[in-house]
Amino acid sequence: MVTSRRLERMKNVLKTRQADLQIFMDYVYSEHNLAAIVRTADAVNVWKVYYRHQNKIRVNDEIAMKADRWMNIENVKDIESFYKRIKSEWYQVVASLIDEDTIDFREVDYTKPTLVVLWNEVDWISEVTKSYADKKIMIPMYWMSQSLNVSVANAVILYEAQRQRQQAWMYDKMQISEQIYEEILQSWIERGNK
Ligand SMILES: C[S@@+](CC[C@H](N)C(=O)[O-])C[C@H]1O[C@@H](n2cnc3c(N)ncnc32)[C@H](O)[C@@H]1O
Repeated sequence: MVTSRRLERMKNVLKTRQADLQIFMDYVYSEHNLAAIVRTADAVNVWKVYYRHQNKIRVNDEIAMKADRWMNIENVKDIESFYKRIKSEWYQVVASLIDEDTIDFREVDYTKPTLVVLWNEVDWISEVTKSYADKKIMIPMYWMSQSLNVSVANAVILYEAQRQRQQAWMYDKMQISEQIYEEILQSWIERGNK
């Protein structure tokens, strides 16, 4: 049984969910970072968080604060076919990394269908992502430390995407079909207050 207040919250989340804004954490070393990414993705209301890891990861509850229960999360097994599918759906692939060959993250138009790819905490960007990236972005730093934490970088980028999408009224018009809206809402109601 869901309370009417909770039902309203569910409806509002689905009506404002950004169906064509997605995140891909390409290889996870720290599960805590993935959990923090999921929590921000939930706050900005993106459609889906993908990650790559040899095992399915149980998202840390204390960090995600249960955001993972309402977010689509998928482990990408075959990265080539994943990028091919994303491209066939006309997404721009925006890879965030620290390099000279990058543009300021604010120069991207995030109102277009967008997959933001976050690199992992250890390795350099892979050749496969380089070959599919339409844009390579960097968050400017006046730094002594080498980089931002990956979940912090995710938050900075997603809130720029949110700002642009709010200005374009994309949170005011439902982005998913009525059918998908009803299907997800039903499954959430069945899950209730658990
Ligand atoms: C800790 S950093 C990776 C450090 C990696 N060892 C390197 O030298 O590139 C983790 C990820 O966060 C993102 N990131 C961190 N700081 C960033 C910045 N200033 N601009 C863009 N992305 C950043 C990138 O996706 C990066 O791969």
